Amino acid sequence: MRVERLGVGDPRLREAADLIVTVYDGLHRDDGLDSPSRLLDEDGLRRRLRDATGHVVIRDGAVVGFALTRPSRDVPGASYLGTVAVAPAARGIGLASALVDAAIAHARAEGYAAIALDTFDGPGGAEGYFGRFGFRRRWSRDGTVCMVKELIADG
Ligand SMILES: CC(C)(COP(=O)(O)OP(=O)(O)OC[C@H]1O[C@@H](n2cnc3c(N)ncnc32)[C@H](O)[C@@H]1OP(=O)(O)O)[C@@H](O)C(=O)NCCC(=O)NCCS
Repeated sequence: MRVERLGVGDPRLREAADLIVTVYDGLHRDDGLDSPSRLLDEDGLRRRLRDATGHVVIRDGAVVGFALTRPSRDVPGASYLGTVAVAPAARGIGLASALVDAAIAHARAEGYAAIALDTFDGPGGAEGYFGRFGFRRRWSRDGTVCMVKELIADG
């Protein structure tokens, strides 16, 4: 398993978009949650990566995990971690953890004071998951929780 960057010209863009759609469409079916990621295609992902850095987990030559980081639009001075997705068959073995660690390291390296994310509020959401990494609830509205992890204070 390795975490790599995914740029706008990467031939694995389509594979990553398919993974994202599978994961977020599954959330829709299982938990009734909706997200624009459910309808993402290769071009949509390419557009998303124009102002973001893509991170993928590669296992046995296949893209099995994805996350992006970009400047936060809601939390001043923070990076933003979004579109976290791990293939259903590859869950529970630390792949999302590797992506979160890579995103935090990337944000630190870029000099951000904090990193923020959004997750669904309540069942189907991942607040408990991201709490493990030190993300804390900042606010909640319209079914979305914003969580923030400070990067300066904890070194
Ligand atoms: C949430 C998600 C990224 C975790 O991926 P993963 O690679 O299985 O995660 P890891 O292997 O690093 O961690 C697994 C642990 O997290 C826990 N976990 C997984 N999803 C969780 C959730 N939604 N809430 C709380 N804990 C969760 C597992 O029970 C497991 O616990 P354990 O270590 O005690 O056994 C993956 O389930 C996923 O893609 N979900 C759908 C998309 C999503 O919710 N994205 C988050 C942004 S809204």
